[in-house]
Amino acid sequence: MHVAVIGAGTMGSGIAQVCAMAGHEVRLCDTDATRNEAAVHSMRASLDRFAAKGRLGDEEPVDVLDRVSLQTSTAAACTAAEVVIETVVERIDVKHEVFREVVAAAPDGALLGTNTSQLSITRIGTVLGDDAGRLVGMHFFNPPVLMRLVELVAGLPTTPATVTRAEAFARSLGKETVVCRKDSPGFLTSRVSAIVRLECLRMVEEGVGTPADIDKALRLGLNFPMGPLELGDFNGLDTYLHALESLEQAHGDRFRPTVTLRNLVAAGRLGRKSGRGIYSYGSDGTMIEGSGMEDGGEGR
Ligand SMILES: NC(=O)c1ccc[n+]([C@@H]2O[C@H](COP(=O)([O-])OP(=O)(O)OC[C@H]3O[C@@H](n4cnc5c(N)ncnc54)[C@H](O)[C@@H]3O)[C@@H](O)[C@H]2O)c1
Repeated sequence: MHVAVIGAGTMGSGIAQVCAMAGHEVRLCDTDATRNEAAVHSMRASLDRFAAKGRLGDEEPVDVLDRVSLQTSTAAACTAAEVVIETVVERIDVKHEVFREVVAAAPDGALLGTNTSQLSITRIGTVLGDDAGRLVGMHFFNPPVLMRLVELVAGLPTTPATVTRAEAFARSLGKETVVCRKDSPGFLTSRVSAIVRLECLRMVEEGVGTPADIDKALRLGLNFPMGPLELGDFNGLDTYLHALESLEQAHGDRFRPTVTLRNLVAAGRLGRKSGRGIYSYGSDGTMIEGSGMEDGGEGR
């Protein structure tokens, strides 16, 4: 199949790689050409790792990369697309601008997917007019090459046929699907992970346990692959605060961000990317052992 991936950041690059590894022809498009180049770099490194583990079958990394072409124009990326997956920044105005271009350029029957983590599919689709029935949330997880789930989200106008097509496409990538049948903020996954992380932050504030012990408890006792507090630092506490604010707006008080989280973000302690968050990090990005903040204090 011909697939257009619009946005070549963290997710777009991974999704393009997954599609190419499944044998699809991919046009990867970012308006910032340096992001396209960086995406090729990271795909090549990842494909080398797959090859080293014997997980590319008969193919070489270069064979897979040959199926990915780079574009800086959305229209050019979409002309032959049977599937378009939008993975641009999480801003409704940017997504609207992209989908206006997509619907004008893509073939009439193309399946339209958005990788939004929490924006309303229905709202994104308002610029599509009668074509909104072809839009579905296709929520991949980070890193797309390793995570097995694609969460499909039906907007109000999304047709059942669109959801069925998206399920088949995700299966062609070797992924499992779940369907969030209502366009509800936080879908099925982000809503639960937000509440778990929030509870962990509340325990830090109450001094019930250290961040390291809370993370360890969830990793070893509840089988979480990564502690929720570490993950918050990894993804960025500003992103997390923003997500909680919109969930609070949609679902009420149980998602209200903690005072500590607000203070950390106000102080620019955003997690790994700023060198300090709930934990502190060395210049190479590794966490400094024992550096977790305690009792909602400032940490070391
Ligand atoms: N990072 C994650 O863990 C994650 C997980 C699931 C879903 N998502 C969602 O995926 C989407 C992308 O997230 P990301 O982390 O890859 O962001 P990112 O910032 O790494 O990449 C976004 C890319 O979009 C590009 N872009 C901006 N405007 C554009 C346009 N008009 N046309 C083409 N490209 C454009 C930017 O140059 C950038 O390279 C967001 O909606 C996000 O909520 C992210």
